[in-house]
Amino acid sequence: MKIFLDTANIDDIKRFARIGIIDGVTTNPALVAREGRNFREAVEEICEIINGPVSAEVIGTTADVMVDEARKISKIHPNIVVKIPATPAGFEALGIVSKDGIKVNFTIVYTSNQALLAAKLGATYVSPFVGRLDANSTSGSDLIREIVTIYKNFNFQTQVLAASMRNVIYVKEAALAGVHVATIPPDILDQMMHNELTDISLKGFLNEWHKLPPEKRNYFDKD
Ligand code: G3P
Repeated sequence: MKIFLDTANIDDIKRFARIGIIDGVTTNPALVAREGRNFREAVEEICEIINGPVSAEVIGTTADVMVDEARKISKIHPNIVVKIPATPAGFEALGIVSKDGIKVNFTIVYTSNQALLAAKLGATYVSPFVGRLDANSTSGSDLIREIVTIYKNFNFQTQVLAASMRNVIYVKEAALAGVHVATIPPDILDQMMHNELTDISLKGFLNEWHKLPPEKRNYFDKD
């Protein structure tokens, strides 16, 4: 399973890229706006840091404008994946730009039927928003299981990209469902690396270790 970082924050992208844990980055207009940056500069800088897919979203809401923006955004860098929202205009734009060979992350998906149609139109990724669906009293994890099953049934090449991963349980459920990618916000990725029992266990080991007389703690020195 690939892990993308769901942010436009350069410091976080650099931090997780250094660890080697992220395969790509996803942004959306809200995430870019939160950084107070020029859209194009932010996307270019992210593409310089990450050697993997970087999702950048169209702003237009009509098919014509989305197609025009998708063509421009896709030229920013070879690793760009254009995010197009799952509206009727978005479906129309997806069909057109897919034929041009532009990679699309079809986003804000809330039903398996939207995901089915996106796959038929050649989306590279489809992004079901798990956390937002759960917040609306419908199981986001059920949705990703359905989409994974439908794609397997018909051998679609579109990859399921679990988004809106608002807690660590969603990530685990996405992995169990067999998604291709989960896009995870920095704070949730930090939580995934941290476990209190690990900290307590390590503290116990080191407490005992330091009871050894100093001359017997020459673990690393042969001489
Ligand atoms: O790309 C952002 C998407 O993952 C939404 O996350 O937490 O705002 O629903 P959230």
